[in-house]
Amino acid sequence: MQKRQIFVTTALPYANGHFHIGHIMEYIQADIWVRSQRMAGNLVHFVGADDTHGAPMMIAAQKEGITPQEFVARIASGRKAYLDGFHIAFDHWHSTDSQENVELSQDIYKRLKAAGLIYTKDIEQFYDPVKGMFLADRFIKGTCPKCGAEDQYGDNCEKCGAVYSPTELVNPFSALSGATPELRSSTHYFFRLSDPVCAQFLRDWVHGKGKSGADRVQPEVRAKDEEWLEDGKLGDWDISRDAPYFGIEIPDAPGKYFYVWLDAPVGYLASLKSYADKMGFDFLEFLTHEKTEQIHFIGKDIVYFHTLFWPAMLHFAGQPYRVPDNVFVHGFMTVDGRKMSKSRGTGISPMKYLELGMNPEWLRYYLGVKMGPTNDDVDFSKADFLARVNSDLIGKYVNIASRAAGFIVKRFDGHVADGLDADPIVNELRAVVPQVAALYNDREYAKALRLVMEKADVVNEFVDREKPWDLAKDETKRAELHRVCSVALESFRLLTTMIKPVLPATAKNVETFLNCGELTWEGAATPLSSETPIMPFKHLMQRADMKQLDELMPAKPVEPEKPAIEPIAAEVKIDDFSKCDFRIAKIVKCEHVEGSDKLLRLTVDLGEGKTRNIFSGIKAHYKPEDLEGKLTVVIANLAPRKMRFGVSEGMLLSASGLDAKDGLFILEPQEGAKPGMRLR
Ligand code: 2FM
Ligand code: ZN
Repeated sequence: MQKRQIFVTTALPYANGHFHIGHIMEYIQADIWVRSQRMAGNLVHFVGADDTHGAPMMIAAQKEGITPQEFVARIASGRKAYLDGFHIAFDHWHSTDSQENVELSQDIYKRLKAAGLIYTKDIEQFYDPVKGMFLADRFIKGTCPKCGAEDQYGDNCEKCGAVYSPTELVNPFSALSGATPELRSSTHYFFRLSDPVCAQFLRDWVHGKGKSGADRVQPEVRAKDEEWLEDGKLGDWDISRDAPYFGIEIPDAPGKYFYVWLDAPVGYLASLKSYADKMGFDFLEFLTHEKTEQIHFIGKDIVYFHTLFWPAMLHFAGQPYRVPDNVFVHGFMTVDGRKMSKSRGTGISPMKYLELGMNPEWLRYYLGVKMGPTNDDVDFSKADFLARVNSDLIGKYVNIASRAAGFIVKRFDGHVADGLDADPIVNELRAVVPQVAALYNDREYAKALRLVMEKADVVNEFVDREKPWDLAKDETKRAELHRVCSVALESFRLLTTMIKPVLPATAKNVETFLNCGELTWEGAATPLSSETPIMPFKHLMQRADMKQLDELMPAKPVEPEKPAIEPIAAEVKIDDFSKCDFRIAKIVKCEHVEGSDKLLRLTVDLGEGKTRNIFSGIKAHYKPEDLEGKLTVVIANLAPRKMRFGVSEGMLLSASGLDAKDGLFILEPQEGAKPGMRLR
């Protein structure tokens, strides 16, 4: 078989924090894949790096009075403990703040420029006059222009969810200095993604296949990409930031730096290059080799960058760069079906997991059991975790070895019987090995592990049926005992082969214990030899217990569930309803009310041949000019109400949730409704 040669990466983590469980989950997914490929004899270079650049890094370092380089180095030095701890075997870990990355990023940029895909444009942006820098959206705060909530970020409101640009904020201020930002103009560099040639290339790319024949991206990712690639939707990409910025300088553009998302994915190549240099193979030769596959594992939040910007950058930079063969996208981790939250205490700290002495392979197995090739979220539940680990791993898998090994060592000097090749159970297991290998290749881990456990059941049933403990009592059944325990051990070898990508440390111990050399897919065909004695059985894995899980994720007192909606009011008769006369009204005029911070004054037309005056407490939610000319609904027969500012001759209907933060919405009828029409 032609061997594959593959370059595999996981998303580069920002260097301003330690790994969280989401990182570990992604790395475990990729690591399982890489290990299964290596078991096929394929050459895999599996590399990672820290994503170091950007304003947040610069500011965090400033706060501590150290250089960004020092800041990043401190985080980087903590990486190994996590990676080793969870048996995540990157070949190499590098940094985007490296010479390789400077050279590669600048080279790619120059090629894009030469291809006519880079242009400059002056844009207006908020500038912090105290800090002397342009402010990224997340460093600008102010009052939400939609709901009036204070202290909201520059790009969206956490209260009402509105999305806007920082220049729309009411009373904007710099989150860094508190100063009022000024609008200033500066020249930015853009990647002309809107060029029809780019869009066409990307449409082809997202519909293509990688070298292995697997779709470049999963169907759900392709659907999203297609939306983004609809005619004329793809905008140009602003790839520059002004000094001061922690990043890579743009060639021939003093004071301009690459936006962090330009040089971040180039970091994949920088890490590969650094690894090639260290190992003494030729980076360019590997990259341009016709067999090489380039595969990225990422989360669903960064699909836009990896399936649009990144392939376009690589394609239009040209040789020696190559487009990714596959981008494999996973979902997020949830706990008991909910998004993880620190405040609710549902976060899982990977370091705490290790510090509690919990077995990293439990988590690898549990995630494996939950993971498929889609970007669905992966749910963690304590009870489920315990069940999977204890009943599958301990109860089904490890159990087989502990039941058979003792007899072989004590009664047969460690030698298994001959003729294992012909045994039906052994054959049944051996037949599924290629299937399991293929399932790993397709990232169908859940299916692969289900198959492994089904076969473990078959073996356990066999042992239960043959009862070696009874056979051992009868000297005339010695040959029978030998055969049964040998079949069990050979089956255990095959099961271990099939679970090895998930349990690499256990598999290693099993290789030592069975004295059988390295377990590979191909090696499945060669059974244990009666010539080579096995070693005494050592305990392979502890059970997991709830105490550890409770310590890892302390249960928080459950808050009484808030009803999802306001309780429905008491029942009424149809007559009660008919008493209220709701009408379609046209808002002819809408204005502020002097002296009131809540009210707007509306002049509405109900088709009565005269207009009415209505006061409504919607000032925080609507601008008068946005309402004029609109149709809405009022209750027309409510007794007029005298207010401080005049008489209100009706009431506007609006919808609001239990929580003011959900906003308030007036009603607008479907097209065709006319002023004066009654609601019934
Ligand atoms: O979203 C993130 O965490 C980014 N640091 C991922 C970068 S992936 C690649 F482009 F480097
Ligand atoms: Zn808001």
